[in-house]
Amino acid sequence: MNEFEKLKEASHFLHAFNSAGAKLGVVLGSGLGNFVQEIEVSHEIPYEQIPHFPVSTVEGHHGKLIFGSIGGKPIIAMAGRFHFYEGYSPQEVAFPIRVMKFLGIETLLISNAAGGVGEGFKVGDLMIITDHISFAVKNPLLGANDDRLGPRFTDMSEPYKKELIAKAKDIALRLGIEVKEGVYFGVTGPTFETRAEYMLIRILGAHAVGMSTVQEVIAASHSGMNVFAMSVITDIGIRDEENTITHEEVLQAAKEAEPKFSAIFREMIIAF
Ligand code: HPA
Repeated sequence: MNEFEKLKEASHFLHAFNSAGAKLGVVLGSGLGNFVQEIEVSHEIPYEQIPHFPVSTVEGHHGKLIFGSIGGKPIIAMAGRFHFYEGYSPQEVAFPIRVMKFLGIETLLISNAAGGVGEGFKVGDLMIITDHISFAVKNPLLGANDDRLGPRFTDMSEPYKKELIAKAKDIALRLGIEVKEGVYFGVTGPTFETRAEYMLIRILGAHAVGMSTVQEVIAASHSGMNVFAMSVITDIGIRDEENTITHEEVLQAAKEAEPKFSAIFREMIIAF
């Protein structure tokens, strides 16, 4: 069965749960799952029940597709995502994003936990992603292109929509939440970066580095969706301390910053 047919089967299975006709999709990153409490949930579908969906394994990811609303705005949220480092192919990472498109999602709000490499970045900062560097990860569009999913050559001049960035900045200002802006550098993981790698990533023009998001954004851009994305800075890559970086501290830092992140995402959804 080809990708298009798999996507049709998965979206056919899910179609009935989207009777509210959500146009907004949300992807919740590591440690940011508490955002689910903001959602008036109508249906929760564990990934393993959805035809052709990969199944998430990492701690801190719940692995379900949530249909519901926030402030009366219908949304579909991914609680738990698929990472290349877990052994999924880039196409598998992209699969749920494409399913969202098949279900009628036009705008995607993506979140992640990321390491900070920008000057002056601190643990707990929020960073609106203005652009990304994806060449260190495998592109999900490699291989034969199915024109029904999107064009062979996808424009990436504005993967993160300026209009959505402006909206988020307005909301943050109104809520009195400080937000940074910057470039996200995609890596495969699962190792955190060496000190030299963090430095290289800064020199290459990025402000944050993480193991998710870019393949999803490429698939979303390919399918013609509008994307907004925000990182929670959970650790600092460029540093004098002799500390290590652990998954536990990443999850803890994300959890602590989650209320600020949730407030902005909630207002963005309500403003739609
Ligand atoms: N590097 C890569 N991915 C990450 C990091 C990091 O420092 N922190 C959270 N995700």
